Amino acid sequence: MDRLLTRRTPRSSRAVAAQADSSARTRAFMMMFALLLVLATAFAAMAQEQSNKGGTYEPQVGQAGKDVVWVPTPQALVDKMLEMAKATPKDYLIDLGSGDGRTVITAAKLGLTAKGIEYNPQMVEVAQKAAKAAGVSEKATFEKADIFESDFSKADIITMFLLPWINEKLSPTLLKLKPGTRLVSNTFTMGEWQPDETATVTADCTNYCKALLWIVPANAEGTWQLGEAELKLKQSYQMLSGTLGPTEITDARVRGTAISFSVGGANYTGTLEGKSMSGTIAGSNAKWTATMK
Ligand SMILES: C[S@@+](CC[C@H](N)C(=O)[O-])C[C@H]1O[C@@H](n2cnc3c(N)ncnc32)[C@H](O)[C@@H]1O
Repeated sequence: MDRLLTRRTPRSSRAVAAQADSSARTRAFMMMFALLLVLATAFAAMAQEQSNKGGTYEPQVGQAGKDVVWVPTPQALVDKMLEMAKATPKDYLIDLGSGDGRTVITAAKLGLTAKGIEYNPQMVEVAQKAAKAAGVSEKATFEKADIFESDFSKADIITMFLLPWINEKLSPTLLKLKPGTRLVSNTFTMGEWQPDETATVTADCTNYCKALLWIVPANAEGTWQLGEAELKLKQSYQMLSGTLGPTEITDARVRGTAISFSVGGANYTGTLEGKSMSGTIAGSNAKWTATMK
């Protein structure tokens, strides 16, 4: 037993020594690994800071934004949105949350004056550089601002790729814009305000390929004198209901300043201007006018 003990004792010491040695190596390795990790993190942060300072900021799809992340609208849908809005060089376009500026720049290339409102200052810089590279800096401008604190009342066209809750929150402001203002959203709806048109692109588009268009309606609600009869109109967004004399009107709506309704088989179309409207009755060429009471 003793011999066994004496024989085993030196072996045990070697094992303990070896184990201690191995633990020290593991600790050293762990410390080295931790140090490398710290250095790598610091280096990445420095590289990011330097690249941002150096103007080579690279936006990442899905990166955080104030109220919504950045995902660019596919170019095919940008083109479709502008086509649906019937954009002309006379129009002033504002893109709410303009990201890399592609909608604003595309509009400027078509001759529109266009502005992007974007909360992320680095994205504003990216967009400004892209506008410069495209040679449209004068027509395509970008402002670092919050869409909830911005005035876009001068726009003829508003484009957005936000989220349903944001569109809904903005809708009371958008509804007060001048009649005929075109609002075009990539994919997302606007609460109870139904779009006037929708379109989906299939070519060169795999995600977020649907556009929705709203045309800010003029206010038609009230009682109007139309010839000998009273036209009583109720309005919910662009949809109208009511009566002409004793007869209920159908298919009644306002699209910007254009009004249309049917009554007793006659189809009325016309234009609203403040407290008066006028137009024709389809088929008969008869003219009609009405004045708000
Ligand atoms: C989905 S991206 C759309 C970008 C661009 N409009 C497009 O269609 O390619 C939304 C953009 O809105 C910006 N954004 C988020 N909240 C915002 C806010 N409150 N005000 C201004 N911009 C905002 C984000 O930084 C992001 O660039």
